[in-house]
Amino acid sequence: MSRSVPEDSGTGAMSDRQWAGMFLGDESYAGSKSYYQLSQAVEEIFGFQYTIPVHQGRGAEQILFPLLVELAKEKGASEPVFLSNHHFDTTKAHIEMAGAKAKNFICASALKTEIVDDWKGNFDLNELSNEIKCNQKNIAAIIITITCNSVGGQPVSMENIRSAARIARDSGIPVIIDAARFAENAYFIKQRDSEFFHETISNIVKLIFSEADIFTMSAKKDGMVNIGGLCCFRNNESLFRQAQLRCVPMEGFVTYGGLAGRDMAAMAIGLQEALNEDHLRSRIAQVEYLGHKLQQAGVPIQTPEGTLVLFFVFFTLFVRIKVLAGDVGTFPILLCLELHWGILNCNKSDLNYHLLRLN
Ligand SMILES: Cc1ncc(COP(=O)(O)O)c(C=O)c1O
Repeated sequence: MSRSVPEDSGTGAMSDRQWAGMFLGDESYAGSKSYYQLSQAVEEIFGFQYTIPVHQGRGAEQILFPLLVELAKEKGASEPVFLSNHHFDTTKAHIEMAGAKAKNFICASALKTEIVDDWKGNFDLNELSNEIKCNQKNIAAIIITITCNSVGGQPVSMENIRSAARIARDSGIPVIIDAARFAENAYFIKQRDSEFFHETISNIVKLIFSEADIFTMSAKKDGMVNIGGLCCFRNNESLFRQAQLRCVPMEGFVTYGGLAGRDMAAMAIGLQEALNEDHLRSRIAQVEYLGHKLQQAGVPIQTPEGTLVLFFVFFTLFVRIKVLAGDVGTFPILLCLELHWGILNCNKSDLNYHLLRLN
Protein backbone atom coordinates (compact mmCIF):
# COMPACT_ATOMS: atom_id res chain seq x y z
CA MET A 1 0.00 0.00 0.00
CA SER A 2 1.29 3.49 -0.74
CA ARG A 3 0.22 6.72 0.92
CA SER A 4 0.57 10.19 -0.51
CA VAL A 5 1.02 12.76 2.25
CA PRO A 6 0.86 15.91 0.07
CA GLU A 7 -2.82 15.27 -0.57
CA ASP A 8 -4.54 18.34 0.72
CA SER A 9 -5.20 19.99 -2.60
CA GLY A 10 -8.07 19.04 -4.85
CA THR A 11 -7.96 15.40 -3.90
CA GLY A 12 -10.90 15.22 -1.48
CA ALA A 13 -14.30 13.71 -2.16
CA MET A 14 -17.09 16.11 -3.07
CA SER A 15 -20.44 15.94 -1.30
CA ASP A 16 -23.68 14.59 -2.77
CA ARG A 17 -24.98 18.17 -3.05
CA GLN A 18 -21.88 19.24 -4.95
CA TRP A 19 -22.22 16.34 -7.40
CA ALA A 20 -25.89 17.10 -7.82
CA GLY A 21 -25.01 20.77 -8.41
CA MET A 22 -22.61 19.75 -11.16
CA PHE A 23 -25.45 18.29 -13.21
CA LEU A 24 -27.06 21.73 -13.25
CA GLY A 25 -23.85 23.55 -14.27
CA ASP A 26 -24.41 26.04 -17.07
CA GLU A 27 -21.70 25.71 -19.73
CA SER A 28 -22.42 28.99 -21.55
CA TYR A 29 -19.17 30.61 -22.61
CA ALA A 30 -20.24 34.08 -21.46
CA GLY A 31 -22.72 34.82 -18.70
CA SER A 32 -22.96 31.30 -17.28
CA LYS A 33 -25.65 31.05 -14.58
CA SER A 34 -23.16 29.05 -12.52
CA TYR A 35 -20.91 32.13 -12.39
CA TYR A 36 -23.74 34.17 -10.88
CA GLN A 37 -24.46 31.37 -8.42
CA LEU A 38 -20.79 31.45 -7.37
CA SER A 39 -20.72 35.26 -7.15
CA GLN A 40 -23.80 35.21 -4.94
CA ALA A 41 -22.24 32.59 -2.64
CA VAL A 42 -19.10 34.76 -2.33
CA GLU A 43 -21.17 37.82 -1.48
CA GLU A 44 -23.21 35.94 1.13
CA ILE A 45 -20.27 34.21 2.80
CA PHE A 46 -17.52 36.83 2.58
CA GLY A 47 -19.35 40.10 1.91
CA PHE A 48 -17.32 40.75 -1.27
CA GLN A 49 -19.09 42.31 -4.26
CA TYR A 50 -16.77 41.37 -7.11
CA THR A 51 -15.79 37.81 -8.02
CA ILE A 52 -13.43 36.43 -10.64
CA PRO A 53 -13.30 32.63 -10.90
CA VAL A 54 -9.87 31.17 -11.72
CA HIS A 55 -8.56 27.69 -12.39
CA GLN A 56 -6.83 27.48 -8.97
CA GLY A 57 -5.08 29.68 -6.39
CA ARG A 58 -2.06 30.51 -8.53
CA GLY A 59 -4.40 31.63 -11.31
CA ALA A 60 -5.58 34.40 -8.97
CA GLU A 61 -1.99 35.25 -8.11
CA GLN A 62 -0.94 35.62 -11.73
CA ILE A 63 -3.74 38.04 -12.59
CA LEU A 64 -3.53 40.08 -9.36
CA PHE A 65 0.08 40.66 -8.34
CA PRO A 66 1.42 42.38 -11.48
CA LEU A 67 -1.48 44.84 -11.15
CA LEU A 68 -0.68 45.61 -7.52
CA VAL A 69 2.98 46.07 -8.36
CA GLU A 70 2.05 48.58 -11.08
CA LEU A 71 -0.28 50.42 -8.70
CA ALA A 72 2.43 50.64 -6.04
CA LYS A 73 4.84 52.05 -8.63
CA GLU A 74 2.28 54.65 -9.71
CA LYS A 75 2.09 55.73 -6.06
CA GLY A 76 5.87 56.16 -5.90
CA ALA A 77 7.27 52.76 -4.92
CA SER A 78 10.74 52.18 -6.39
CA GLU A 79 11.10 48.63 -5.01
CA PRO A 80 7.61 47.25 -4.33
CA VAL A 81 7.35 44.72 -1.52
CA PHE A 82 4.59 42.52 -0.11
CA LEU A 83 4.49 41.71 3.60
CA SER A 84 2.93 38.51 4.89
CA ASN A 85 2.82 36.31 7.96
CA HIS A 86 4.25 33.78 5.47
CA HIS A 87 3.88 33.72 1.69
CA PHE A 88 2.91 30.42 0.17
CA ASP A 89 5.59 29.37 -2.36
CA THR A 90 3.54 30.11 -5.50
CA THR A 91 2.49 33.45 -4.00
CA LYS A 92 6.11 34.40 -3.46
CA ALA A 93 6.95 33.21 -6.98
CA HIS A 94 4.23 35.36 -8.58
CA ILE A 95 5.30 38.40 -6.57
CA GLU A 96 8.90 37.94 -7.64
CA MET A 97 7.95 37.28 -11.27
CA ALA A 98 6.08 40.60 -11.17
CA GLY A 99 9.34 42.31 -10.12
CA ALA A 100 8.57 42.79 -6.41
CA LYS A 101 9.85 41.31 -3.15
CA ALA A 102 8.06 39.08 -0.66
CA LYS A 103 8.92 39.43 3.05
CA ASN A 104 7.65 37.21 5.86
CA PHE A 105 6.87 38.40 9.39
CA ILE A 106 5.89 35.17 11.11
CA CYS A 107 5.91 35.14 14.91
CA ALA A 108 8.92 33.55 16.59
CA SER A 109 7.01 30.61 18.13
CA ALA A 110 6.17 29.27 14.64
CA LEU A 111 9.78 28.28 14.19
CA LYS A 112 10.04 26.56 17.57
CA THR A 113 8.24 23.36 16.73
CA GLU A 114 8.33 21.92 20.25
CA ILE A 115 6.58 24.96 21.77
CA VAL A 116 2.81 24.72 21.98
CA ASP A 117 1.23 28.00 20.91
CA ASP A 118 -2.39 28.29 19.71
CA TRP A 119 -1.57 30.94 17.10
CA LYS A 120 1.61 30.00 15.33
CA GLY A 121 0.28 31.57 12.12
CA ASN A 122 0.36 35.05 13.68
CA PHE A 123 2.32 38.02 12.37
CA ASP A 124 5.07 39.44 14.51
CA LEU A 125 3.24 42.77 14.74
CA ASN A 126 6.22 44.76 16.00
CA GLU A 127 8.34 43.69 13.07
CA LEU A 128 5.46 44.35 10.69
CA SER A 129 4.87 47.88 11.91
CA ASN A 130 8.60 48.65 11.98
CA GLU A 131 8.89 47.57 8.36
CA ILE A 132 5.91 49.73 7.41
CA LYS A 133 7.36 52.73 9.28
CA CYS A 134 10.76 52.36 7.59
CA ASN A 135 9.62 51.44 4.10
CA GLN A 136 6.04 52.70 3.74
CA LYS A 137 6.22 54.00 0.18
CA ASN A 138 7.36 50.62 -1.13
CA ILE A 139 4.72 48.44 0.50
CA ALA A 140 2.33 47.18 -2.19
CA ALA A 141 0.06 45.18 0.17
CA ILE A 142 0.00 42.93 3.19
CA ILE A 143 -1.08 39.32 2.74
CA ILE A 144 -2.65 37.44 5.63
CA THR A 145 -2.38 33.72 4.91
CA ILE A 146 -5.10 31.78 6.77
CA THR A 147 -4.27 29.22 7.95
CA CYS A 148 -0.56 29.68 7.45
CA ASN A 149 0.38 26.74 5.25
CA SER A 150 4.14 27.30 5.21
CA VAL A 151 4.54 26.86 8.98
CA GLY A 152 2.31 23.78 9.18
CA GLY A 153 -1.28 24.92 8.59
CA GLN A 154 -1.18 27.09 11.70
CA PRO A 155 -4.07 29.46 12.49
CA VAL A 156 -3.99 33.25 12.82
CA SER A 157 -5.92 34.74 15.76
CA MET A 158 -8.74 37.23 15.20
CA GLU A 159 -6.83 39.77 17.27
CA ASN A 160 -3.75 39.37 15.08
CA ILE A 161 -5.78 39.61 11.85
CA ARG A 162 -7.44 42.78 13.12
CA SER A 163 -4.20 44.35 14.32
CA ALA A 164 -2.25 43.55 11.14
CA ALA A 165 -5.10 44.94 9.02
CA ARG A 166 -5.33 48.09 11.15
CA ILE A 167 -1.59 48.71 10.89
CA ALA A 168 -1.85 48.40 7.09
CA ARG A 169 -5.02 50.48 6.79
CA ASP A 170 -3.53 53.29 8.90
CA SER A 171 -0.83 53.61 6.23
CA GLY A 172 -3.20 53.27 3.27
CA ILE A 173 -1.87 49.79 2.40
CA PRO A 174 -4.30 47.24 0.86
CA VAL A 175 -5.05 44.08 2.84
CA ILE A 176 -5.21 40.75 1.02
CA ILE A 177 -6.30 37.45 2.54
CA ASP A 178 -4.81 34.28 1.08
CA ALA A 179 -7.88 32.27 1.96
CA ALA A 180 -7.26 28.62 1.04
CA ARG A 181 -8.15 27.44 4.57
CA PHE A 182 -10.54 30.17 5.66
CA ALA A 183 -13.10 27.88 7.32
CA GLU A 184 -10.52 25.92 9.28
CA ASN A 185 -8.96 29.13 10.55
CA ALA A 186 -12.43 30.28 11.65
CA TYR A 187 -12.94 26.92 13.39
CA PHE A 188 -9.73 27.36 15.38
CA ILE A 189 -10.82 30.87 16.38
CA LYS A 190 -14.09 29.44 17.68
CA GLN A 191 -12.27 26.66 19.58
CA ARG A 192 -9.42 28.68 21.04
CA ASP A 193 -10.66 32.24 21.61
CA SER A 194 -13.28 32.55 24.37
CA GLU A 195 -14.71 35.68 22.74
CA PHE A 196 -15.95 33.49 19.87
CA PHE A 197 -17.05 30.29 21.66
CA HIS A 198 -20.71 31.10 20.99
CA GLU A 199 -20.28 32.54 17.50
CA THR A 200 -21.15 30.62 14.34
CA ILE A 201 -18.38 29.73 11.88
CA SER A 202 -20.24 31.73 9.28
CA ASN A 203 -20.15 34.90 11.43
CA ILE A 204 -16.49 34.41 12.28
CA VAL A 205 -15.71 34.13 8.56
CA LYS A 206 -17.61 37.38 7.92
CA LEU A 207 -15.66 39.12 10.69
CA ILE A 208 -12.31 37.90 9.32
CA PHE A 209 -13.09 39.03 5.78
CA SER A 210 -14.45 42.39 6.92
CA GLU A 211 -10.77 43.24 7.55
CA ALA A 212 -9.68 42.69 3.92
CA ASP A 213 -9.92 44.53 0.59
CA ILE A 214 -9.06 41.59 -1.66
CA PHE A 215 -8.87 37.85 -1.27
CA THR A 216 -7.33 35.11 -3.37
CA MET A 217 -8.27 31.50 -2.80
CA SER A 218 -7.26 28.06 -3.83
CA ALA A 219 -10.72 26.48 -3.57
CA LYS A 220 -9.12 23.02 -3.70
CA LYS A 221 -8.85 23.05 0.09
CA ASP A 222 -11.77 24.47 2.10
CA GLY A 223 -13.74 25.13 -1.10
CA MET A 224 -13.83 21.33 -1.40
CA VAL A 225 -13.50 21.15 -5.16
CA ASN A 226 -11.07 19.18 -7.27
CA ILE A 227 -10.16 22.28 -9.26
CA GLY A 228 -10.97 25.96 -8.86
CA GLY A 229 -10.02 29.24 -7.25
CA LEU A 230 -11.14 32.81 -6.67
CA CYS A 231 -9.86 36.37 -6.95
CA CYS A 232 -12.33 38.70 -5.20
CA PHE A 233 -12.60 42.39 -4.39
CA ARG A 234 -14.70 43.91 -1.61
CA ASN A 235 -15.64 47.15 -3.33
CA ASN A 236 -12.76 48.32 -5.52
CA GLU A 237 -14.56 48.13 -8.85
CA SER A 238 -11.74 49.71 -10.81
CA LEU A 239 -9.18 47.13 -9.63
CA PHE A 240 -11.71 44.36 -10.27
CA ARG A 241 -12.17 45.54 -13.87
CA GLN A 242 -8.40 45.65 -14.43
CA ALA A 243 -8.04 42.13 -13.02
CA GLN A 244 -10.85 40.96 -15.31
CA LEU A 245 -8.89 42.33 -18.27
CA ARG A 246 -5.90 40.19 -17.25
CA CYS A 247 -8.13 37.18 -16.61
CA VAL A 248 -9.30 36.92 -20.21
CA PRO A 249 -5.93 36.13 -21.83
CA MET A 250 -4.59 34.16 -18.87
CA GLU A 251 -7.43 32.20 -17.33
CA GLY A 252 -10.40 32.53 -19.65
CA PHE A 253 -13.45 34.73 -20.10
CA VAL A 254 -14.46 36.57 -16.91
CA THR A 255 -17.52 34.44 -16.22
CA TYR A 256 -15.63 31.14 -16.24
CA GLY A 257 -11.93 31.88 -15.59
CA GLY A 258 -10.63 28.51 -16.80
CA LEU A 259 -13.37 26.47 -15.13
CA ALA A 260 -16.31 24.54 -16.49
CA GLY A 261 -19.73 25.83 -15.43
CA ARG A 262 -20.19 22.66 -13.39
CA ASP A 263 -16.92 23.36 -11.50
CA MET A 264 -18.25 26.79 -10.50
CA ALA A 265 -21.53 25.24 -9.37
CA ALA A 266 -19.66 22.71 -7.21
CA MET A 267 -17.51 25.48 -5.75
CA ALA A 268 -20.52 27.63 -4.83
CA ILE A 269 -21.96 24.69 -2.87
CA GLY A 270 -18.58 23.62 -1.43
CA LEU A 271 -17.93 27.09 0.02
CA GLN A 272 -21.27 26.95 1.85
CA GLU A 273 -20.73 23.41 3.10
CA ALA A 274 -17.23 24.23 4.30
CA LEU A 275 -18.85 26.27 7.09
CA ASN A 276 -20.37 23.15 8.65
CA GLU A 277 -18.86 22.78 12.10
CA ASP A 278 -19.21 18.99 12.34
CA HIS A 279 -17.39 18.62 9.06
CA LEU A 280 -14.58 20.92 10.22
CA ARG A 281 -14.31 19.11 13.55
CA SER A 282 -13.96 15.75 11.85
CA ARG A 283 -11.32 17.00 9.38
CA ILE A 284 -9.17 18.65 12.01
CA ALA A 285 -9.57 15.69 14.40
CA GLN A 286 -8.02 13.44 11.74
CA VAL A 287 -4.90 15.60 11.63
CA GLU A 288 -4.74 15.67 15.43
CA TYR A 289 -5.13 11.89 15.59
CA LEU A 290 -2.26 11.31 13.19
CA GLY A 291 -0.17 13.93 15.01
CA HIS A 292 -0.71 12.20 18.38
CA LYS A 293 0.21 8.82 16.93
CA LEU A 294 3.40 10.24 15.45
CA GLN A 295 4.35 11.89 18.72
CA GLN A 296 3.68 8.67 20.62
CA ALA A 297 6.08 6.97 18.21
CA GLY A 298 8.67 9.64 19.02
CA VAL A 299 8.43 11.48 15.70
CA PRO A 300 8.95 15.23 16.25
CA ILE A 301 6.36 17.42 14.51
CA GLN A 302 5.21 21.03 14.49
CA THR A 303 2.99 21.41 17.60
CA PRO A 304 0.12 21.78 18.07
CA GLU A 305 -1.10 20.07 14.92
CA GLY A 306 -2.53 22.53 12.41
CA THR A 307 -4.89 21.98 9.51
CA LEU A 308 -4.32 19.46 6.77
CA VAL A 309 -0.56 19.32 7.02
CA LEU A 310 1.78 17.79 9.55
CA PHE A 311 5.32 19.07 9.52
CA PHE A 312 8.04 16.71 10.57
CA VAL A 313 11.18 18.11 12.09
CA PHE A 314 13.61 16.42 9.80
CA PHE A 315 16.86 17.45 11.35
CA THR A 316 16.00 15.80 14.66
CA LEU A 317 14.92 12.72 12.75
CA PHE A 318 18.18 12.67 10.87
CA VAL A 319 20.09 12.62 14.12
CA ARG A 320 17.89 9.93 15.59
CA ILE A 321 18.18 7.51 12.74
CA LYS A 322 21.81 8.43 12.20
CA VAL A 323 21.53 9.38 8.55
CA LEU A 324 24.33 11.70 7.55
CA ALA A 325 22.63 14.89 6.32
CA GLY A 326 25.57 16.93 5.03
CA ASP A 327 24.54 19.29 2.27
CA VAL A 328 21.85 17.01 0.95
CA GLY A 329 19.19 18.37 3.30
CA THR A 330 15.94 16.50 3.82
CA PHE A 331 15.88 14.69 0.51
CA PRO A 332 17.30 11.31 1.64
CA ILE A 333 14.72 10.97 4.37
CA LEU A 334 11.92 11.69 1.93
CA LEU A 335 13.27 8.95 -0.30
CA CYS A 336 13.57 6.54 2.65
CA LEU A 337 9.96 7.18 3.61
CA GLU A 338 8.84 6.48 0.08
CA LEU A 339 11.05 3.48 -0.63
CA HIS A 340 10.49 1.69 2.68
CA TRP A 341 6.93 2.60 3.59
CA GLY A 342 5.43 3.92 0.35
CA ILE A 343 4.80 7.33 1.93
CA LEU A 344 5.04 10.04 -0.72
CA ASN A 345 6.07 13.36 0.83
CA CYS A 346 6.98 16.89 -0.01
CA ASN A 347 9.67 19.24 1.10
CA LYS A 348 8.73 22.71 2.36
CA SER A 349 12.11 24.19 1.77
CA ASP A 350 11.66 27.60 3.43
CA LEU A 351 10.56 26.14 6.72
CA ASN A 352 13.10 23.36 6.59
CA TYR A 353 15.75 25.95 6.10
CA HIS A 354 14.72 27.72 9.29
CA LEU A 355 14.33 24.51 11.25
CA LEU A 356 17.70 23.22 10.16
CA ARG A 357 19.27 26.47 11.19
CA LEU A 358 17.53 26.55 14.56
CA ASN A 359 18.39 23.00 15.45
C1 LIG B 1 -2.00 29.34 1.24
C2 LIG B 1 -1.97 28.94 -0.20
N1 LIG B 1 -1.99 29.89 -1.15
C3 LIG B 1 -1.97 29.59 -2.46
C4 LIG B 1 -1.91 28.28 -2.89
C5 LIG B 1 -1.86 27.98 -4.37
O1 LIG B 1 -3.05 27.38 -4.75
P1 LIG B 1 -3.16 26.32 -5.95
O2 LIG B 1 -2.34 25.14 -5.58
O3 LIG B 1 -4.63 26.03 -6.03
O4 LIG B 1 -2.65 27.00 -7.16
C6 LIG B 1 -1.89 27.26 -1.93
C7 LIG B 1 -1.82 25.85 -2.35
O5 LIG B 1 -1.52 24.96 -1.58
C8 LIG B 1 -1.93 27.59 -0.56
O6 LIG B 1 -1.90 26.66 0.40
